[in-house]
Amino acid sequence: MRVFEIRNAFGIDNLVLSERPQPSPGHGQVIVKVRAVSLNYRDILVVKGLYNPRLPLPRIPFSDGAGDVVAVGEGVKRVRMGDRVAGIFMQDWLAGEPTDARAKSALGGEIDGMLAEYTVLHEDGVVHIPEHLSYEEAATLPCAAVTAWHAVIESRLKAGANVLVLGTGGVSLFALQFARIAGARVIITSGSEEKLARAKKLGAADCINYRTVPDWHNRVLEVTDGVGVDLVVEVGGAGTLPQSINAVRRGGVISLIGVLTGTAGQINPLPIIMKGIQVKGIFVGSREMFEAMNRAISLHQLHPVIDRVFPFDETGEALRYMESAAHFGKICIRI
Ligand SMILES: NC(=O)c1ccc[n+]([C@@H]2O[C@H](COP(=O)([O-])OP(=O)(O)OC[C@H]3O[C@@H](n4cnc5c(N)ncnc54)[C@H](OP(=O)(O)O)[C@@H]3O)[C@@H](O)[C@H]2O)c1
Repeated sequence: MRVFEIRNAFGIDNLVLSERPQPSPGHGQVIVKVRAVSLNYRDILVVKGLYNPRLPLPRIPFSDGAGDVVAVGEGVKRVRMGDRVAGIFMQDWLAGEPTDARAKSALGGEIDGMLAEYTVLHEDGVVHIPEHLSYEEAATLPCAAVTAWHAVIESRLKAGANVLVLGTGGVSLFALQFARIAGARVIITSGSEEKLARAKKLGAADCINYRTVPDWHNRVLEVTDGVGVDLVVEVGGAGTLPQSINAVRRGGVISLIGVLTGTAGQINPLPIIMKGIQVKGIFVGSREMFEAMNRAISLHQLHPVIDRVFPFDETGEALRYMESAAHFGKICIRI
């Protein structure tokens, strides 16, 4: 079978197409014929060696993929041949709190990922995908969607709440969609007017261009009657966090997810204390969250926003396209 692997050294140019033996399922395992994978910003970091420079090579990257179960090992009970499934991001985080061991079971990082024609997973490490979704759509769910679900829905957002979403990448558009089905009002930022117009069509109430309005936190305060938002979906990191702290209301929540602007910077803890802000780090989510999210996606017949689908052979181009940040929503690869 064909796989893409980071072979001897990191870098997009070192992501090479290789042949590996066809896997067979051990006890409790399933073989998934992978039909589609989706890209996350993390995949760029993994491939370039910036996520974990000590990652043992060769390694098959990418956490997110969906396909069909084509073989089951002895003792498998949760899935059957022919089931449509997706892998869960952390193979060992089924429910409850994250632990060190669970955090170390992430696909396409600590263990081989989904960028392959076939993959072998434990039956506990897959979920059934919503019937109305294509394989590409389902492949967008394991990392970006579960993270957004965790940040927005598991934070017990109330209907009518104000939510600030930064940017229009994969996590952010899922956060917009989940906040809307929870009955919240969404304020979104982007560096592109065209993307803001598309976010408006998806239900964003207020759109702010962070390039033309660099002090965007003041605009957020203006459109919330000076109060600030109940929740910030923070994907920017060090460069945006100070403004997110200004934009959140007293007693509000900042779900810290990403570091698109980097990790170096100074944070003044005083406003966090004085405003009683909860800053919560989010690291994807459990299988239990994934399954709850899938029920909501099915109920609302929600479709992930896919920007572009690349062929398997053009995985390098797909990664470079993601790096350019021209996309709106998710980028997928059909296998
Ligand atoms: N903690 C977790 O579990 C977890 C899970 C998934 C992702 N992440 C992290 O979350 C971040 C986003 O991931 P992703 O996969 O959604 O990335 P993505 O699809 O590549 O999204 C990137 C988008 O973020 C926006 N952006 C860039 N700089 C910005 C800034 N200064 N202010 C506001 N928006 C900005 C841009 O949107 P516009 O073009 O609209 O400006 C860009 O297109 C990454 O840091 C990723 O590593 C963390």
